[in-house]
Amino acid sequence: MDVNKLRLVCFRNFLDTTLNFNNSLNILIGNNAQGKTNIIEAIYTLLRGGTYRTKDESTLINWQEKQGYLSGEVSKDSESFQINILFQNIEKLNPLSPKTKKIIKVNKKYRSKSWLTERFYPVIFTPEDLQIIKSSPSLRRKFLDEVIINLNPTYEHYLRDYNRILFQRNILLKTERNKHNLDRHLSEWDQKIVEAGSLITWYRIKTLQLINQKVKTIHQLMTEPKETLKLKYNSNFLTTFLEEKEEIQKVFEQKLENARDKDLTLKVTTIGPHRDDYSILSDSIDLGLYGSQGQQRTVVLALKMAELELIREKDGEYPPLLLDDVLSELDAERRLFLIKLIKEKPIQTFITSIDLQDFVPYHIVESARVFKVRGGMVEENEK
Ligand SMILES: Nc1ncnc2c1ncn2[C@@H]1O[C@H](COP(=O)(O)OP(=O)(O)O)[C@@H](O)[C@H]1O
Ligand SMILES: [Mg+2]
Repeated sequence: MDVNKLRLVCFRNFLDTTLNFNNSLNILIGNNAQGKTNIIEAIYTLLRGGTYRTKDESTLINWQEKQGYLSGEVSKDSESFQINILFQNIEKLNPLSPKTKKIIKVNKKYRSKSWLTERFYPVIFTPEDLQIIKSSPSLRRKFLDEVIINLNPTYEHYLRDYNRILFQRNILLKTERNKHNLDRHLSEWDQKIVEAGSLITWYRIKTLQLINQKVKTIHQLMTEPKETLKLKYNSNFLTTFLEEKEEIQKVFEQKLENARDKDLTLKVTTIGPHRDDYSILSDSIDLGLYGSQGQQRTVVLALKMAELELIREKDGEYPPLLLDDVLSELDAERRLFLIKLIKEKPIQTFITSIDLQDFVPYHIVESARVFKVRGGMVEENEK
């Protein structure tokens, strides 16, 4: 799939800018704080119906304005989609209501955000993604969940269900004082959480296996001496490796029952996939704990490439690849690896950098479209 055209109107620091993209490489060049990341964000937002950068979408609208919009032309499976997304600041009637209203239209029809997420899944790589390795389990779960959603969009609903059930069970643990009522209600919620939760664990284990099949080879191409990379799922209730849904469910049920007193004391659900994690092991060494910065970068790059390959297997074509400020984070060999990949495979790529010189040694500028970004304006560069 390709993003052919993008117009940003009162979106971040762009007042009205139209960009026509190449279906292979697009290079965005500019100094700091000129708008490169804002363009990457706009492409992502157009395809996903929302940004990855913030929960508060009012920040997408230009500070001077009350509304902003994105429109773009996307092609997939020889179909063409005209996507329009309008963001409007609204008067907040109560503190809990959102500050921004969002209207999505595709080929002139009103559509939901999930209509977009079910069809378009760019792979994005930013310096913040290094956190996948080093930081808290929640970010690792987030990455894995995103890969699963890209491969099976309905997983997003399962995840939402699970989180809702978990939330309700926790509320019950915190607020119900009557022992008899508590026991009765808990039994009902336990059944629900076991069903929803084992599905989440099952999807995660399955997808981790898929990622493992891909990432090992990709990672070996990038390391010298060759390191063997493996992701290992650490479920908070499974002690042995299980891959059948029913078996996972049985163990979950048992462990939840065993933890009932603990949950009552702590007033929170201590068992379930919301506490799962996975280790990222290179030759059996946990990179989250012992990996060097360089090793961690290489692994994140390998993980993103694995995601790209999995999506291609599913769709028969590569999704767009968004690379924000990653070139400067990689050493010469990893840079070469990444650039070769972009060059050799039919991947529509958007890449930002401060200096066009970064690309010159690789002879890719000739066939790329180069955009100079300055103060919310874009000029196409004669090379
Ligand atoms: N809603 C907004 N309205 C106007 N300007 C904004 C808005 N949000 C961010 N900016 C500005 O956009 C500028 C460019 O940001 P960014 O795209 O992150 O730069 P970079 O080129 O370094 O990637 C920043 O100076 C920021 O202050
Ligand atoms: Mg930036």
